[in-house]
Amino acid sequence: MNLTIDQDRLLSEIEALAQISDAEPPAVTRVVFTPTDLKARTWLRKKCLQQDLAVRQDAVGNMFARWAGTDETAAPVATGSHIDAIPNAGKYDGVVGVLGGLEAIRTLQHSGFRPTRSIELILFTSEEPTRFGIGCLGSRMLAGALTAEAARMLTDASGETLEHVRKKADMQGDLESVQLESGHFHAFVELHIEQGPLLEHAHVPLGIVESIAAPASYQLIAEGAGGHAGGVLMPDRKDALCAAAEIILTIEKAALASGSLDTVATVGICDVFPAAVNSIPSRVRLTLDLRDTDLARRDKVFRAIENKSRAVSEKRSVSLQFQIVNADAPATCSSAVTDALVRSCSKHNLRFQKIVSRAYHDSLFMSRIAPTGMLFIPCRSGYSHRPDEFASPEDIARGTLILAETLAELSH
Ligand code: GLV
Ligand code: MN
Ligand code: MN
Repeated sequence: MNLTIDQDRLLSEIEALAQISDAEPPAVTRVVFTPTDLKARTWLRKKCLQQDLAVRQDAVGNMFARWAGTDETAAPVATGSHIDAIPNAGKYDGVVGVLGGLEAIRTLQHSGFRPTRSIELILFTSEEPTRFGIGCLGSRMLAGALTAEAARMLTDASGETLEHVRKKADMQGDLESVQLESGHFHAFVELHIEQGPLLEHAHVPLGIVESIAAPASYQLIAEGAGGHAGGVLMPDRKDALCAAAEIILTIEKAALASGSLDTVATVGICDVFPAAVNSIPSRVRLTLDLRDTDLARRDKVFRAIENKSRAVSEKRSVSLQFQIVNADAPATCSSAVTDALVRSCSKHNLRFQKIVSRAYHDSLFMSRIAPTGMLFIPCRSGYSHRPDEFASPEDIARGTLILAETLAELSH
């Protein structure tokens, strides 16, 4: 089988999808279930139908586009990723895995290959936590890691529930029906940009992921006392923002002190109430994103952060609440999938390196119900989640070729 990826077509589709955005180019913003996201989904669905794929959508909006195999009773092989994009993002995160997956299927179709197992392209809902606060919403529910009941409690910043928003977007059925059994898929493989600099530094065009680091996310609410910025003297204040500032630096110190560069902690949101120039902040909401390749170390750092933050809040007479949004285990990729990726690379004489994913992906949850693997391509300077995110056309096409070969082998 001789496969040729249509690089120009794939690139023009990536550009076309980037136009469906709520940000000024080159930035891309596409938050789940906004009119823009729904427009992008419709655009993608049309592309899938043009390839004669059978498209279904589940109750949370995960979309499955199936190329039927000769044995429709056999568990399908799946590929895919996400197209939602955080505010002020780039055009490759997730998109390369979705449009690369579609191009891989198209390439296999044109080559005359006929899979035994069906091949499905999956568009996962809300890999990004932007709207409902929790990442990998669609794949988390598919794997049963988030119950329908818990999902129904999710709300966005304006108080709209996931339940309301998804129904308004015409996502039919009960959330209970989203979960799939382990074994539903024979294998899952996701193509993604690295979102780090290692491949570029090593001048290696492909990364075969061995494991995915353990992500966790928390919400912290500091509550002090507000008041007049002129009237309340400094010794009498319970300024929630000053406490939050000290807590943020405590978080940075705890991550730096973990003993490993694999520990990373980020406070990405700081909401101040009432946010007036001449009013002492009475309440602050912080988000903490904490990750590590080692689960025990991540949880130890969390405990240190919690203890030290409580000491800050007591010293400042500010109350502090910690809420866990998610605390997920790391994932190990399946050797059945990584071996197939290695064979594809060898067949094409392409160098690769084994790599750890520090970002999380839908693969983190797919690995709970299916043998899962990931393929990384380099991105310039490791930049991601910013408008100047860039992956070269050659790297994208190369990754797509290896994906196509791997899908062919796994579905044979
Ligand atoms: C996914 O976008 C992540 O934050 O790792
Ligand atoms: Mn992302
Ligand atoms: Mn992504």
